[in-house]
Amino acid sequence: MKKIIETLQGKKFEIPPIWLMRQAGRYLPEYREVRSNYDDFMQFCFDSKAIQKVTLQPIDRFDFDAAIIFSDILVIPHILGQSVRFEKNHGPVLSDVNWEHLFDQSNTINMPEVMRPVTEGIRATRQELSDDKALFGFAGSPWTIATYMVSRGKTQDFAQIEPFIKSNPDVFASIINVLTKKVTQWLQLQIDAGCDVVQIFDSWAGMVPEKYYESILIKPLLSIVKALQQSHAQIPIIYFGKGISNYYPTLAKQVSNIAFGIDQHTDVNFINLNLPSHIAVQGNLDPISLKNGTFDSDVKKLKNVFKDRPYVFNLGHGILPDTPIEHVERLMQLIKS
Ligand code: CP3
Repeated sequence: MKKIIETLQGKKFEIPPIWLMRQAGRYLPEYREVRSNYDDFMQFCFDSKAIQKVTLQPIDRFDFDAAIIFSDILVIPHILGQSVRFEKNHGPVLSDVNWEHLFDQSNTINMPEVMRPVTEGIRATRQELSDDKALFGFAGSPWTIATYMVSRGKTQDFAQIEPFIKSNPDVFASIINVLTKKVTQWLQLQIDAGCDVVQIFDSWAGMVPEKYYESILIKPLLSIVKALQQSHAQIPIIYFGKGISNYYPTLAKQVSNIAFGIDQHTDVNFINLNLPSHIAVQGNLDPISLKNGTFDSDVKKLKNVFKDRPYVFNLGHGILPDTPIEHVERLMQLIKS
């Protein structure tokens, strides 16, 4: 049995299952070694052998309850023809785009074919991973992916994108539509290849003004979740909407049967009081307190606050690259004690 899956299906454990967002990454020397073989990050993301190797590294080292497939949310724009490269100390840079051309392209693209290196990596990883561990597939939300596509890199705030939405409302709606379809198909392909659970990363949800929630956040999410619940009813879905956890009690009524990832700024008591207690939550430990090794009281508090609901231990956002490995080891001991 997979403890994380059981938890997401509603079971409560005294010792919660644990994995960490961005657990395969630069804080691991063995990751940096594999990474150094590639100048181009996207080439790395499409190498089946490297995917398998790097996905399993944190499991071998820390014995987490789940692996997350090594990939990136930006593989979607990349396969749609908006190429992505990563500049050191700068983050992603996306190429210029002709939207009409990209929309045309999106109709002809053979997703199973172009994603084959990744799905092969998933298949191989699932085979090697022990039965009691879950394998996460993931994608960005349409909105979060769109922020990178429209600003051709990281977006600082909504004001950077709102002029585009206002002057090209039809184009923006088409971007969200195309991404909704592609994200749905990509998650389905990952599940077919062997993923047991999927997470939707909406890292920039917190930027969106409430008047846009319906069109930008909820409608696309509902469409993805409905399609997955129809095609793969048994696969749990986690929505990580960074910065909007106060809205989760309402969102849970609009999009049913999903679990929620909560960031480190979330008021956990508010969640406990307002989100029905059968709904699973995941996360909340501040990545900075893991980095600094000052997490003992936070861990105790989280275990206590969420003792009466299904809870998956995790961070509130990705692990920081300069996190000492000993702190992760000590966190594991503390959780399991
Ligand atoms: O969690 C895991 O271990 C699985 C792998 C994973 C990566 N990216 C690998 C990666 C996952 C789940 C992601 C998600 C992702 N990617 C998100 C959503 C989650 C979040 O952190 O908000 C976003 C917004 C991206 C886009 C992205 N990819 C950015 C902004 C960057 C550069 C900034 C950074 O953190 O370095 C990346 C690059 C990236 N993706 C790296 C890794 C391990 C580091 C690149 C490197 O090794 O050179």
